[in-house]
Amino acid sequence: MATLEIRDLHVSVNAEGGPRQILKGVDLTVKQGETHAIMGPNGSGKSTLAYSLAGHPKYTVTGGEVLLDGEDVLEMSVDERARAGVFLAMQYPVEVPGVSVSNFLRTAATAVRGEAPKLRLWVKEVKEAMAALQMDPAFAERNVNEGFSGGEKKRHEILQLELLKPKIAILDETDSGLDVDALRIVSEGINRVRSTGEVGTLLVTHYTRILRYIQPDYVHVFAGGRIVESGGAELADKLEEEGYESYVKGGASE
Ligand SMILES: Nc1ncnc2c1ncn2[C@@H]1O[C@H](COP(=O)(O)OP(=O)(O)OP(=O)(O)O)[C@@H](O)[C@H]1O
Ligand SMILES: [Mg+2]
Repeated sequence: MATLEIRDLHVSVNAEGGPRQILKGVDLTVKQGETHAIMGPNGSGKSTLAYSLAGHPKYTVTGGEVLLDGEDVLEMSVDERARAGVFLAMQYPVEVPGVSVSNFLRTAATAVRGEAPKLRLWVKEVKEAMAALQMDPAFAERNVNEGFSGGEKKRHEILQLELLKPKIAILDETDSGLDVDALRIVSEGINRVRSTGEVGTLLVTHYTRILRYIQPDYVHVFAGGRIVESGGAELADKLEEEGYESYVKGGASE
C-alpha cells in the first residue's frame, strides 16, 4: 500500500528582501485509501505545502523529508513525482495557451502510464470521464484553462484526477468557487476515485460543505506553517463554530 510520509518539512519562498520561511515543521502521513482534510487560516502555508510536494521551483526545502513508499520525493523532478503517483490539483490552475485539453490529457496519461494509451480506447475513456463530470465535450478541443470559468477549471482538474489515477492526490481548494451543483458533481468525481481504495487524498479546504460529500478520515488544523491539531471529521465542525482564533493566538501563525 502506498504511503506518503512528510517529516519535519521546512520550506522557504524567495521573497523580496530574502528567503521567507513558510513551512515550519510539517509532519503528516497519508496512506492509500485515506482522506485527510487540511483546514487553516489564509496565508498559513497550505498551498505552499501542496506546491512543495509537487516540486514547484519557487519553493526551497530547507529541512525535513518527504518519502513515497520510502523513496525520496524531494530528490525527484516534477515529472518523476507525477510518474511516481503524486498529483496536484492547484488552487489557481494555470492556462496553457496553444495546448488543447485533449492533447494535454493524452500527454499526461502517456507520461504517467509509461506508454501512450491506445487512441480509440483513450477517446472513449475521456468521453466517459467528461460525461461523468457533466463537462461539454467541446472542452476537449479548447486550450487548457484558457477562458475557463473558475468552476470549469476545477472540473478540469478532477477530470485529470480521474484519468491519471494517482497514488496520492493533493486537492488545493478544489471546492472553492463552485456552485452547488458543481460542488456535488466534483465531489462525486473525487469519491469515484476514492472508492477504488487506491488513492490517498489530501484535501485542502475552507469549507465543511465539501466534507459532507467527502467524509474525511482525518482533519488537520494548519496554522503558522505546520499542523497544530489533528482529529476526526468532528474537528471540522468545531472549526466551523469556533474559527481558528485559539490556534493562531499563541503565536502559532508566525
Ligand atoms: N513570493 C512570495 N513572497 C513573499 N511571501 C510569499 C511569497 N509566496 C508566498 N508567500 C507567503 O507565504 C504565505 C503562505 O502562503 P500560502 O499560499 O501557502 O497560504 P495558504 O494557507 O494556501 O492561504 P489561502 O488559504 O489564502 O489559500 C503567505 O503569507 C504568502 O504571502
Ligand atoms: Mg492556498
